[in-house]
Amino acid sequence: MTNKTVTITDNVTGKSADFTIRDSVHGPSVVEIGSLYKEFGYFTYDPAFTSTASCQSKITFIDGEKGILLHRGYPIAQLAERSSFLEVVYLLIHRVLPMKESLEDFKRNISKHMLLNQGILNFFNGFHYDAHPMAMLTAVVGSLSAFYHDRIDISDAFHREQIASRIVAKMVSIAAAAFKHMMGHPIVYPDSKLSYSGNLLNMMFSMPTEPYEINPVAEKALDQLFILHADHEQNASTSTVRMAGSTGTNPFAAIAAGCAALWGPAHGGANEAVINMLDEIGSVDNIAKYVEKAKNKDDPFRLMGFGHRVYKSYDPRAVIIRKTCHDVLEALGVDDPKLELAMRLEEIALQDEYFIERNLYPNVDFYSGLIYKALNIPSSFFTVLFAIGRAPGWIAQWMEMIADPDQRIARPRQTYRGPEMRDYVEEFQRGSK
Ligand code: SDX
Repeated sequence: MTNKTVTITDNVTGKSADFTIRDSVHGPSVVEIGSLYKEFGYFTYDPAFTSTASCQSKITFIDGEKGILLHRGYPIAQLAERSSFLEVVYLLIHRVLPMKESLEDFKRNISKHMLLNQGILNFFNGFHYDAHPMAMLTAVVGSLSAFYHDRIDISDAFHREQIASRIVAKMVSIAAAAFKHMMGHPIVYPDSKLSYSGNLLNMMFSMPTEPYEINPVAEKALDQLFILHADHEQNASTSTVRMAGSTGTNPFAAIAAGCAALWGPAHGGANEAVINMLDEIGSVDNIAKYVEKAKNKDDPFRLMGFGHRVYKSYDPRAVIIRKTCHDVLEALGVDDPKLELAMRLEEIALQDEYFIERNLYPNVDFYSGLIYKALNIPSSFFTVLFAIGRAPGWIAQWMEMIADPDQRIARPRQTYRGPEMRDYVEEFQRGSK
């Protein structure tokens, strides 16, 4: 069977060339465009990568039109309802759903790695008490590369699996240590008898002065939220991890780069920005005014938690989180006026022509913050929780990239729009400035 191709003809020179089409299992086929420069002397220009596939991957599939999200082929709604976070982590890293014994071994390995080297805890003493927790997370995750460098061989599959377990395990301990630093309270160590989410709650909220009881509603909600954040194809932070990792750098340093990218309000920082936005709107009476501000190009205000580069229908994660938000607030007896405000804002925006014609729907960040808030977690910490959920996606994508035979250092080109070549000008010959 002859290869399916796309023919490009340069109308300036009349030259034509065929470029191979490679089919995907799901979603659009791709055109292998790598030889464009050799054939035509042109680069492609796609600054936001809206039509560019940066890699081949078997981990996650998203259909933005149909609102589909699959991890290793399993729909996110089925995983959120029937799996657990560490089982999904196992699936992302090992490509299959585990048998019971394998999952128990995996959990024990994660639990073992939750303990941080005491030297890492010293880093927190350098932060001011009001340092943003994402600043602390990014810095301390990066510091793991100082503790795990000489003894890791990223070309060894077993080493990569151990690195993955360490990242997943230590994210919660570093996050909890950052939280305790924010509160000015003593560190609490992990407890191998507790679940992953239970350990996070215990390390964040238990105090030496009185017994702490983990609320099962909070434990289950966190576990489900981590599943819903676990991976999301080639989003900005995952692409950052892949780009950094493609140089062969220390994987902990590459994950720290992912934390840095996630922090932005256009990406993982949106969950914190949603709560701040709801605070600014204040009441249902102000919604119309703020919806108009969001539509006004001259106004920097955006409806945070709305819109998505890929989903042009409802984010399937947002559908699940919206229901969980109601269930958790009801189970905890939390009557948060922000929930009513968020629901009215969603209702009004989804009936507005501006949002309808641009396919702007609530995304994963629109309701998640209301759940975190009901668990007494400060909004500045919300993106840290996103990072905990996303860490297995980052490291699974890093593992896949390192093992990909097509993989080489990522090095995009540009279109140069600067000054034409010119000679050096001595100081006395320069203009007034
Ligand atoms: C995440 O990539 C991923 O997968 C990310 C993520 C993951 O799991 O990793 O899903 C997590 O980051 C979710 C997104 C969280 N961010 C926000 O909620 C911030 C608010 N959203 C916007 O900033 C925006 O929607 C983005 C950044 C999410 C998407 O931006 P795009 O794809 O560049 O869309 P765009 O700016 O080209 O928007 C198209 C139009 C524009 O209007 P026009 O120029 O066509 O007239 O829609 C408008 C935009 O002005 N628009 C919005 C809007 N989002 C887009 N207008 C008002 N409010 C918004 N939120």
